[in-house]
Amino acid sequence: MPHDHDRLQQAAKDHLWMHFTRHSTYDTSDVPIIVRGEGPYIWDAQGKRYLDGLSGLFVSQLGHGRTELADAAAKQARELAFMPLWSYAHPSAIELAERVAGYAPGDLNRVFFTSGGGEAVETAWKLAKNYFKLTGKPMKHKVISRAIAYHGTSQGALSITGLPGLKAQFEPLVPSTFRVPNTNSYRASEITGGFLDGSDPEAFGRWAADQIAVAIENEGADTVAAVFLEPVQNAGGCFPPPPGYFSRVREICDEYDVLLVSDEVICAFGRLGHMFGAERYGYQPDMITCAKGLTSGYAPLGAMIATDRLMEPFLHGHASFAHGYTFGGHPVSTAVAMANLDIFENEGVLENVRDNEGAFRATLERLKDLPIVGDVRGDGYFFGIELVKDVVTKETFNDAEADELLRGFLSKALYDEGLYCRADDRGDPVVQLAPPLICTQEHFDEMEQILRVVLDKAHSLL
Ligand SMILES: Cc1ncc(COP(=O)(O)O)c(C=O)c1O
Repeated sequence: MPHDHDRLQQAAKDHLWMHFTRHSTYDTSDVPIIVRGEGPYIWDAQGKRYLDGLSGLFVSQLGHGRTELADAAAKQARELAFMPLWSYAHPSAIELAERVAGYAPGDLNRVFFTSGGGEAVETAWKLAKNYFKLTGKPMKHKVISRAIAYHGTSQGALSITGLPGLKAQFEPLVPSTFRVPNTNSYRASEITGGFLDGSDPEAFGRWAADQIAVAIENEGADTVAAVFLEPVQNAGGCFPPPPGYFSRVREICDEYDVLLVSDEVICAFGRLGHMFGAERYGYQPDMITCAKGLTSGYAPLGAMIATDRLMEPFLHGHASFAHGYTFGGHPVSTAVAMANLDIFENEGVLENVRDNEGAFRATLERLKDLPIVGDVRGDGYFFGIELVKDVVTKETFNDAEADELLRGFLSKALYDEGLYCRADDRGDPVVQLAPPLICTQEHFDEMEQILRVVLDKAHSLL
């Protein structure tokens, strides 16, 4: 059906409250309205095509327009549209729980479904507290997470988010959360106060992991329940773990009996070429939180996956985990997730990422000849390009400059050139790229060419 663009524009401006959106931007320009998708491309209401360089929001692993997933949703809705998981079950939730447990490393065998990522994070934190209350360590409740990391917007998930600017309007938040340094190797010297310069990644990884032990010691191990870490931290622009980081974190968590939560809301389901990021980097979490790619976005779904040890106290007598969401594990979503994972297996989606990630990296690294590109980093189909004023000194932009560069110019210019991605200034200014996992060299080239034109222009405007 054709869309009446003018009518939609006006209705959007009059009624739609967009998320994380500076609405004044649309006083003088159109709201971008996307109406259709096919493979890694999306089209706006006026018929213009864009490469979906962010998989929507790290979600559309298989790209758009997969009729098998739409059919799976329709079939399930016809058969059983809704049943909660509150003391009842339905087949696709059971089958998906079994399947996800089978993919998850070690004895991460217990799957608690949610509607999205933030709810999975809430669930993990509440489980950590509840578990320790039931096992004789009732004071263990505090959470450690990393600077600049994003874990969601509900009050708990926001509390462990390391972005003061996102939190200020909502303080006071949930108390008892503490931040440790992240693994931004490009800025290792600043992060370690000049102690390390980043030339020895293992030393930096060891140092960064040890800061978790310092935080636990400072708070008292008998008060700390969990540490929340992404395999590759998104906010700040893709910080992969330095070698040895996670094995040292695991040792620390074991030493202090602190639960390691791998927040894989972005990193799971192929983003890094494996079902889970923990698998890629070879560590064993106590919980995994995931969402987004589990359904490739054809329906909303999240999950918290816990080890057998963490569920054990809830398996006897009157104990129960007094927690749940009406739409957690929705039948349509779990049916779609099963069909999504079938395609992952039948079409070798993980293999595609592993086979092509080197080419993706190499293509993006071509941009390093531009005087505004300081760093290209990431793994899998998940990269950040950090923009700097000076590549030699790594001098970054001040807040006003970053605002002008990213919001004033880059976001719109990339979109105008046909690339949907994200220019992010939650840490140092970065362009984030996380395309659908079906992308190949032609799409990498298209991204590089558009970025080259736009970043070149950005530099000339400085
Ligand atoms: C690491 C991480 N955790 C949690 C969340 C929150 O997920 P949601 O927006 O589905 O609530 C996000 C969202 O991007 C995320 O990247």
